[in-house]
Amino acid sequence: MALPLPAPGGNAFSAGGGAAPQLPPLGMVAPFLLAAPIALVIGAAMVFGLTDTMFIAVNLPRVVAITHAIVLGAVTMMMMGATYQLGPVVLGGQLLSIRLARVQFVVHILGLSLFIWALSRWDVSWMSIAGSTLLVSFILYITNIASALSRAGSPSPVRRYLLASIGFLGLAGAFGLTWVGALEHSWFPVTLGRLAAHAHIGLVGWLALTLMGVSYQLVPMFGIAHHVDPRFRQAALWVTAAATVTFATGMLFDPPAPLRLTLAAFLAAGPLLWSLDMWRFVLGRSRRRLDIQGRATAISLAFLTLTVVLGLGAAIGTPFTPDNEMARWPLAYAVAGVLGWAGTAALGNGIKIHAFLVWMHRYQRKVGSAPVPMIADLYDARIAHLTLALHTIASSTLVLGCVIGNLQLVHVGAAILIVATSLYLLTLLSMYRPMHIHPRSAPVRTVAG
Ligand code: HEM
Repeated sequence: MALPLPAPGGNAFSAGGGAAPQLPPLGMVAPFLLAAPIALVIGAAMVFGLTDTMFIAVNLPRVVAITHAIVLGAVTMMMMGATYQLGPVVLGGQLLSIRLARVQFVVHILGLSLFIWALSRWDVSWMSIAGSTLLVSFILYITNIASALSRAGSPSPVRRYLLASIGFLGLAGAFGLTWVGALEHSWFPVTLGRLAAHAHIGLVGWLALTLMGVSYQLVPMFGIAHHVDPRFRQAALWVTAAATVTFATGMLFDPPAPLRLTLAAFLAAGPLLWSLDMWRFVLGRSRRRLDIQGRATAISLAFLTLTVVLGLGAAIGTPFTPDNEMARWPLAYAVAGVLGWAGTAALGNGIKIHAFLVWMHRYQRKVGSAPVPMIADLYDARIAHLTLALHTIASSTLVLGCVIGNLQLVHVGAAILIVATSLYLLTLLSMYRPMHIHPRSAPVRTVAG
């Protein structure tokens, strides 16, 4: 299937109409997209330092360090790169400054590296310095993206989702830094409920809402399902945002199991509504054969269902979670949500977004005057599918290892994850290789999606 060629100055991601969108430089967006898998490999490698104690409590220093390497390194940097690309291009708004985005990348990498090191040693003074640096990175990012969103000419559905999600990112950072202050100065105990409040503002408010909003743009576009009318676009946003605030507020007071379960069920409602729309896009698509992004979407939706089941189980606690290994279900739930749901979707979309970006910068200008490859020619689809399969196996193995409390299985899952993520990184890097196109294939008039 082919996407229409971009209008002069525009591109296939454009929501259409209005002024020609600004295409951010490759050198600004690509570092985020390439650093994300590197952070995931580092996070997965750190899993080998874990012992059986990981099943006892979720807030062990090394577990918290690995969690942040994955959520702030892999998923957040992928989301930042994707929104720097899509915000201006899809919505037609202008970033405040390209240079600011480059500075933010450096600040984020510095803050994150220091934070992971400080968390592993549980050095609260350094955690405080690193956490403040990360908060600066968030503020720079929010300022830049908010500028693009506020100046957006198109009423794209992504806009409201991103406005809400960047607000939650700021809130997650503010809570995180407050928790560090509480640990350093003993202001108040950081109970498991308070930990969950901060974690879910970040995981659901920031990561899930960004993923959900961007998916409303990308899933119908890549699957060619523009004719399918989503039913829950607004409802999924408002329910998720309201549930995140309610959940976080309730968890601050460490509520009893029945209330935890109610809050968790409310939190699951928005993503489940969203998933109904996504299934409608997948089933109603015009593209007959699912490509890498379509398959990744389907797998990630299955992981979302698993996440909800595990999350409800974790909220109930005993008897699902044995009292001597309380962390098993919460960890399995976090792996299913972060690696399974968000990670799989990020993998499928990441390959397509990166290929599009490289194609636009390297070949768009040559269309009509010289042989150019199609977007799909930039990567090997078989390797991309192998990567997806390995990522799925790794996530499932890790979930199973956590649920049954088997450390060896967790290590096997981490090893497979390292292989899968390395393949993903190689797939992205391979898009920069020089391409020799047979003149017979040129000039092309359409861009393979
Ligand atoms: C300035 C940025 C941030 C700082 C300083 C920070 C700080 C912290 C601290 C200190 C803890 C552990 C509290 C304890 O165990 O007593 C924690 C836990 C956690 N944070 Fe953050 N955080 C930040 C941003 C985020 C964001 C944006 C997300 C999500 C996208 C996030 C997700 C989590 C999760 C999931 C946990 C639970 C980890 C576990 O139990 O293994 N954090 N955070």
